[in-house]
Amino acid sequence: MISISGLQKSFGSNRVLAGVDLEVGRGRSMVVIGGSGTGKSVLLKCVLGLVTPDAGRILVDGVDATAGDRDAFLARFGMLFQGAALFDSLPVWQNVSFRLLRGALKRPRAEAREIAIEKLRRVGLSPDVADRFPGELSGGMQKRVGLARAIAADPQIIFFDEPTTGLDPIMSGVINDLIREIVTEMGATALTITHDMTSVRAIADEVAMLHGGTVRWTGPVAQMDASGDAHVDQFIHGRAEGPIAALR
Ligand SMILES: Nc1ncnc2c1ncn2[C@@H]1O[C@H](COP(=O)(O)OP(=O)(O)O)[C@@H](O)[C@H]1O
Ligand SMILES: [Mg+2]
Repeated sequence: MISISGLQKSFGSNRVLAGVDLEVGRGRSMVVIGGSGTGKSVLLKCVLGLVTPDAGRILVDGVDATAGDRDAFLARFGMLFQGAALFDSLPVWQNVSFRLLRGALKRPRAEAREIAIEKLRRVGLSPDVADRFPGELSGGMQKRVGLARAIAADPQIIFFDEPTTGLDPIMSGVINDLIREIVTEMGATALTITHDMTSVRAIADEVAMLHGGTVRWTGPVAQMDASGDAHVDQFIHGRAEGPIAALR
């Protein structure tokens, strides 16, 4: 579903992506791990066309991500942003149905509200949350709203950027399980970026480790513990000693 080859991106003298190759199969859940600042978000933004690569090719369902109709292209994606990133001034239901109220995916207002309430229910929130404002909700509830928004338009591809950052371990577990369930039941292709190993084990079919601007290792999550790669080992065990320098 997503095929990335030779992807390069620098910001001035900062070479972030130095030839990334990554394949995500249709209906598969790929989790990209890597330290802070290794370019995980930049990678995701390149696929969405929010950052223009210097070189390389990105195909989504066989179509060049940079060519053609942007609206139609983006309509296939759902996105859970790091930190939920809700619109403070809009009630919850309008956050969830944000894309259903405008643009290529526009629906009648009453229908958009109904869909919002259905998606809120899917992530474990009752209909009375619909008319509240993001500022009135706990961090975990905000994350659920962000998740409801990501799935509002029944996307074929969903991106999750650090879905558990800022949540306590129990809420992280709840969100991880919810992501896994929803991706499976929707049959969606998922690309998650995280440095949370609990998320990796809960969400991933396949794992790719980004380090030094390239994919260091990729394989099924079941093979991650026996990858034989010192970088992967250091990362998954959170060791201070190893090939990955702590000073970055
Ligand atoms: N728009 C930008 N302009 C300049 N530098 C950027 C920009 N976006 C990201 N970077 C740099 O790219 C590197 C990777 O960032 P990012 O992808 O956000 O890391 P992470 O793996 O933590 O998500 C960092 O050094 C960051 O400062
Ligand atoms: Mg990031």
